[in-house]
Amino acid sequence: MKITKICCIGAGYVGGPTMAVIAQRCPDVRVTVVDVNVERIAAWNSENVDNIPIYEPGLGEVVKEARGRNLFFSTEIEKAIDEAQVIFISVNTPTKTYGKGKGMAADLKFIELCARQIAITAKDNKIVVEKSTLPVRTAEAIKSILSNTGNGVQFQILSNPEFLAEGTAVQDLLCPDRILIGGDSSAEGKKAIQSLVDSYAKWVPIDRILTTNVWSSELSKLTANAFLAQRISSINAMSELCEKTGADVNEVAKAIGMDSRIGSKFLKASVGFGGSCFQKDILNLVYIAKSYGLTEVADYWEQVIIMNDHQKRRFSSNIVKTLYNTVSDKKIAFLGWAFKKDTNDTRESAAIYVANDLINEQALIAVYDPKVLRNKILSDLDTLETRSSDANASNILSFDNPYDACKDAHAIAILTEWDEFAEYDWQRIFDSMKRPSFIFDGRNILCGPKLESIGFHYQPIGS
Ligand code: UDX
Ligand code: UDX
Repeated sequence: MKITKICCIGAGYVGGPTMAVIAQRCPDVRVTVVDVNVERIAAWNSENVDNIPIYEPGLGEVVKEARGRNLFFSTEIEKAIDEAQVIFISVNTPTKTYGKGKGMAADLKFIELCARQIAITAKDNKIVVEKSTLPVRTAEAIKSILSNTGNGVQFQILSNPEFLAEGTAVQDLLCPDRILIGGDSSAEGKKAIQSLVDSYAKWVPIDRILTTNVWSSELSKLTANAFLAQRISSINAMSELCEKTGADVNEVAKAIGMDSRIGSKFLKASVGFGGSCFQKDILNLVYIAKSYGLTEVADYWEQVIIMNDHQKRRFSSNIVKTLYNTVSDKKIAFLGWAFKKDTNDTRESAAIYVANDLINEQALIAVYDPKVLRNKILSDLDTLETRSSDANASNILSFDNPYDACKDAHAIAILTEWDEFAEYDWQRIFDSMKRPSFIFDGRNILCGPKLESIGFHYQPIGS
């Protein structure tokens, strides 16, 4: 079957960019992205592409080219399901905040809602593609819901996890390391897999398109994220040892990264990884392992999260300790709030936890991030539920430029690796601060010798 009509449920960080690139690369395929969030869809339809809801380098141009031609954003979910041959499910799957598996298992209520909506609406055979990251064997539950509709419609379930990283989403989608498609080994399953392979093959070399069974595909996504996060926790563990022994973590990372078996990527020590995926997916993996009674496997992976939490806490404790064990009423400037550069996404950003610790110590946090606004910062802190919204609002000062954020501050903490931070007039910043002036570089991106020559006390992670 040649795919000519696609629908995607969920216009978020994954669904939006993924569908925009599919539409751009396959002009003969009509792609409709639907979402329950009316404001989000309106933002995707903004005339000025600078106002689309997700900031990703290059995404505006892709949307501009395809939108209105073969890319559509809509809230008419049922109509889009009805018309499509293939339905991608790309809704969010947060960690459960209630009931069994609270704090660990993935909450699949949105996935189930989608499956039920598809079951009610579909009048002809459909391919349903899991794009969201899901626990292994979720396809079974989706299949069970879909196959009990009693209206004779046949569904094929495929797993096609997305490996894009935020900040480089468009590039990752255009030149993926691999496309993974898991499906059933029946004749119908193989046909469904082939249809999706053919769509991707319009721009992805065929040797990068890997097909597997559904369970391998679902588990590979969790495994990839667990391995990536594990590397960061491993280097962060070494960063603490480096600080005690006089070794320099950047030198250690370089030395080990030159071993081709280890490789040089994802070895940057930091204040800790953030983002919507790593923590959630590892917690989910731990939960799955525990549910099969695999205690050692669960404990092994849980340690990656424990180390990451430790690294964030260690960073805030070091600030307090260095500022003479008290930060009460002291202004501390935060450069960066997003979980990494080139995105406006703040989910699980280390900045949230470091700010929370410092507000507990009664510090005033002055934030500047090139893409994150005050209301987002406050809602991030409010979700921790550690104090009232009013208390958060009175401890967070926010600025639209770094110079005002740093003026009269006792210290600066670098929480995101935005390139522009290296370009600032650091002498001007130093002249406006309290003495002594400290920089805690949670991303190791600034030039230590240059800052020290100005007079700053410069503390990167792991040296
Ligand atoms: C994605 C993946 O889908 C998730 O599995 C992965 O682990 C993290 O990234 P993401 O695109 O980042 O999620 O989530 P988000 O930006 O929150 O977008 C999800 C969208 O789905 C939201 O716009 C939400 O309104 C929409 N949604 C949710 C629906 O349209 N229907 C629902 O029932 C639930
Ligand atoms: C990740 C995976 O990379 C991607 O394949 C998957 O689809 C979704 O999850 P993402 O979370 O968007 O992508 O960004 P990523 O580049 O992986 O960074 C995650 C966090 O790790 C960021 O906070 C980043 O700053 C941090 N990080 C990354 C480090 O601290 N050190 C590193 O060496 C690399």
